[in-house]
Amino acid sequence: MNNLQLRAERAKLLKQIVELYPEWKRIDNEARRLVGPRSKREVWLEQGAAIAYLASQYDRPDADILEIGACQGYSAALMKLAAPQATVTTLEPHGDRRRRVRAAVGSLGVTVRAERSTIFLRYCVEEGQKYDLIFVDGDHAKVRDDLPYWNLLRPDGLFLHHDYSPPGSKRECRPVWEAINTFASELGHPIDVLVQDDSGVGLAGFYRHDIREVWPPSQTTRTVQALDSETHECAPMEKGFHHD
Ligand SMILES: C[S@@+](CC[C@H](N)C(=O)[O-])C[C@H]1O[C@@H](n2cnc3c(N)ncnc32)[C@H](O)[C@@H]1O
Repeated sequence: MNNLQLRAERAKLLKQIVELYPEWKRIDNEARRLVGPRSKREVWLEQGAAIAYLASQYDRPDADILEIGACQGYSAALMKLAAPQATVTTLEPHGDRRRRVRAAVGSLGVTVRAERSTIFLRYCVEEGQKYDLIFVDGDHAKVRDDLPYWNLLRPDGLFLHHDYSPPGSKRECRPVWEAINTFASELGHPIDVLVQDDSGVGLAGFYRHDIREVWPPSQTTRTVQALDSETHECAPMEKGFHHD
């Protein structure tokens, strides 16, 4: 498992990651070609390189990767290109964006689903769906609602969060910063992956080595039971596209 721990000025970060992962340039070119010009919402270049490098660990036919928040599909494309044998699913509730993502990354075989993360989580619990990598980049204000996704990870799976960026950093995101700090301290699990620029803008990740490690630490059984007992509508779990 790659316990990446880097902090440097952005250009240096990228250089360090490219040294570890020379395939990055090819993957970025291809993702850019499919998705189009950069958007402000997407991950920064050096973060994309780190995400691709980390996803490449799961390049196996039995691996499943989930992204919460596709936007234009850039990070979803990076993960699929870095782990072409894995099944990659991304969630994008915004209709126009979702249609654009499907047009952009559908040819790669990425599944783009319409559910919000909270609905999709219930569905995964019900279906027993597990993942090897979950990249969380959806509604940052409600990121705490996505923390139970931790329980869907297979052994050695990676829970990776975008915008782990403290107040005062160049892309500050207090809700993610606070939620991840709480997660780490309540679980007693130090951050395994930390890629930060010199102002603190970061990606943070945790490997689930032991599946007895659950979130929330004292309430998981109750949470799963509550999810099971709620009524909700979910589309059937299908491979391929989930249409509106
Ligand atoms: C920051 S953008 C994602 C950028 C993308 N990961 C990239 O770097 O290419 C966040 C996206 O999450 C979507 N989103 C918001 N709330 C969500 C939720 N609850 N579940 C899934 N996606 C959500 C938004 O519509 C938005 O397009």
